[in-house]
Amino acid sequence: MTSPAQELYGSAYALINRYVDILASDGVDRGLIGPRELNRLWERHILNSAALAQLIHSGSSVVDVGSGAGLPGIPLAVLRPDLMITLLEPMLRRCTFLTQTVDALGLKGRVRVVRSRAEDHHQRYGVVVARAVAQLEKLLTWTNPLRTPGGTILALKGQTAAEEVEAAHALITEFKLGAEVLSIRAHPEAELATVVVLRPALTAGRYSGRR
Ligand SMILES: C[S@@+](CC[C@H](N)C(=O)[O-])C[C@H]1O[C@@H](n2cnc3c(N)ncnc32)[C@H](O)[C@@H]1O
Repeated sequence: MTSPAQELYGSAYALINRYVDILASDGVDRGLIGPRELNRLWERHILNSAALAQLIHSGSSVVDVGSGAGLPGIPLAVLRPDLMITLLEPMLRRCTFLTQTVDALGLKGRVRVVRSRAEDHHQRYGVVVARAVAQLEKLLTWTNPLRTPGGTILALKGQTAAEEVEAAHALITEFKLGAEVLSIRAHPEAELATVVVLRPALTAGRYSGRR
């Protein structure tokens, strides 16, 4: 029987499997992945990250802010060879792991690792993605300058997503964005992923909460 990840990744399954092996070995040894995560790497990390792919246009330039061990950037890069992805991460130890992992997976041509805090990085991208980096309000302050004028921010969040959108209401309005909270799956049998989607508002100052 094929797993949801096998069905989703198809011919790229061997590559994503290699990444999971790296997370489970080096990732754990170097303290980037907790040992308790081992039996939920696929569901909680790979498929949760891959859910974002359906929200990203073909050929987009994407920055993964606070990439850590490469999440969600690497699962997206493996699934979507059309994307150019920057993994932005301030910690040297994590950047070393990311560079070695990108090399090992043969992703070097379309995935680059940049060591920087989001606030100190001055390039713009069509799509900004982030998972487990900061509360939405702070995340928005860091990531809005990284967006092209028509660009989108996709924040993978947990159950507090709608509350975080409410708390960031003033900033969302100030930045002339619209916010939506979406519950989506990478595969019909995968768990739901909660994503806050922030993009330029059609009418400045208006935004919708939970959809
Ligand atoms: C909890 S980890 C999450 C890592 C990964 N996104 C994931 O989902 O597993 C938060 C990451 O954000 C990074 N980080 C913290 N402050 C940051 C900043 N100002 N700019 C960019 N990254 C930051 C940390 O170094 C860390 O790797």
